[in-house]
Amino acid sequence: MKIGIDKIGFYIPQYYVDMNKLAEARGVEPEKLTIGIGQEKMAIAPITQDPVTLAANAALQILDDESLEKIDFVMFGTESGIDQSKSAGVYVHQLLGLRPDARTIEMKQACYGATAAIQLAKGHIALNPESKVLVLASDIARYGLHTAGEVTQGAGAVALIISANPRIMALDDISAYLTKDIMDFWRPTYSDVAFVDGKFSNEQYLAFFGQVWKEYKEKSGLSIADFEAICYHLPYTKIGLKALRTILEEGSTDVQEKLKDNYHISTLYGRKVGNIYTASLYLSLLSLLDQKELEAGARIGLFSYGSGAVGEFFSGILQSNYRDFLKIDHHTNLFNNRTELSVSKYEMVFEESLPTDGSSVDVDTTNDPAPICLTGINEHMRQYTNKNK
Ligand code: HMG
Repeated sequence: MKIGIDKIGFYIPQYYVDMNKLAEARGVEPEKLTIGIGQEKMAIAPITQDPVTLAANAALQILDDESLEKIDFVMFGTESGIDQSKSAGVYVHQLLGLRPDARTIEMKQACYGATAAIQLAKGHIALNPESKVLVLASDIARYGLHTAGEVTQGAGAVALIISANPRIMALDDISAYLTKDIMDFWRPTYSDVAFVDGKFSNEQYLAFFGQVWKEYKEKSGLSIADFEAICYHLPYTKIGLKALRTILEEGSTDVQEKLKDNYHISTLYGRKVGNIYTASLYLSLLSLLDQKELEAGARIGLFSYGSGAVGEFFSGILQSNYRDFLKIDHHTNLFNNRTELSVSKYEMVFEESLPTDGSSVDVDTTNDPAPICLTGINEHMRQYTNKNK
């Protein structure tokens, strides 16, 4: 039985900051950010958007009567969750009106959470071929103003429906994965910004890629020539290119050119969004699928990396007419309708936060075009609205 990605939804908040202007404000050469890091714009979430609302808005795009009836498992991959106990998925389950007899959980392993969810979803579908699983990947990446990591922040979500007989991509059975206890990036429970050893995290990302790629080839008997494209977890777009370069020589000149071209296409969305942690790899995949017509039957490789660290290389095969099931116009509109924030306004938005002392606050959602918004907090309970209901 084929199991894989049946639908993909995506959401980004309405604001962004231009990396040239951020470079100027931070006293670095713009080319360091646009070429050295490989980012053009960074998505900024207003106070009315959090990982729950971003995920719910991404999922809204792909829900129809059939999926509402069949989704019986919701897995929410995030590392910027809003509660130490209650799953962010439970809020989304309610906001979307999913069926009550569904299982809902949150998955955490840095940027790897959504990949773990997809692999578990495969098992669930294998046992329950009629079911559909909603996998949510949503994060707001925060390192702090004036930090080295600041230029690799971002905000956004991807929602995937995993099912039997998928219409977009059937996942291969073979994958290679690796766990190592390292401190390259982490966020203690008392901090709302991440701690990172930037250079070490880059080294580990590349080392993990090398190991899982080697193991994947051994397990599958496949080689670089079997891939139409390889998509990467992209904390910033330059790093995936560095990883790709480590294996390019395994292929002919034609294979190298094809993989480099398709890599570039897979980074176009990420360049305009920044790091969205768990969702980042799936944004790379979406960027490629939305912007290039590839042949059905083509194999796409996927490298997932979550600091701390877990890495995985897996793959999938594009299905016939897969582009008919993508929401390309909607994604284009999301990018075209964003508003640029000046650096000083971005800093103000970044510093805004909800009270933590139990007091109640309402936030104004009138300027937020998202259907699903955070409306405030009351006695430590976040309040949400779905404007469509
Ligand atoms: P930095 O010290 O600001 O930058 O840190 P740099 O000095 O390393 O320069 C970056 C690049 O810009 C270099 O290129 C420079 O040469 C180049 P490279 O040598 O790497 O090819 N450069 C220029 N290029 C053109 N024109 C110029 C110019 N000047 C310099 N004028 C760093 C950069 C990414 C380390 C920092 O932003 C950071 O710590 N970011 C956060 C950590 C991160 O993203 N790590 C990635 C791997 S870990 C991961 O992916 C997991 C993660 O997503 C978390 C999770 O799993 O949950 C982060």
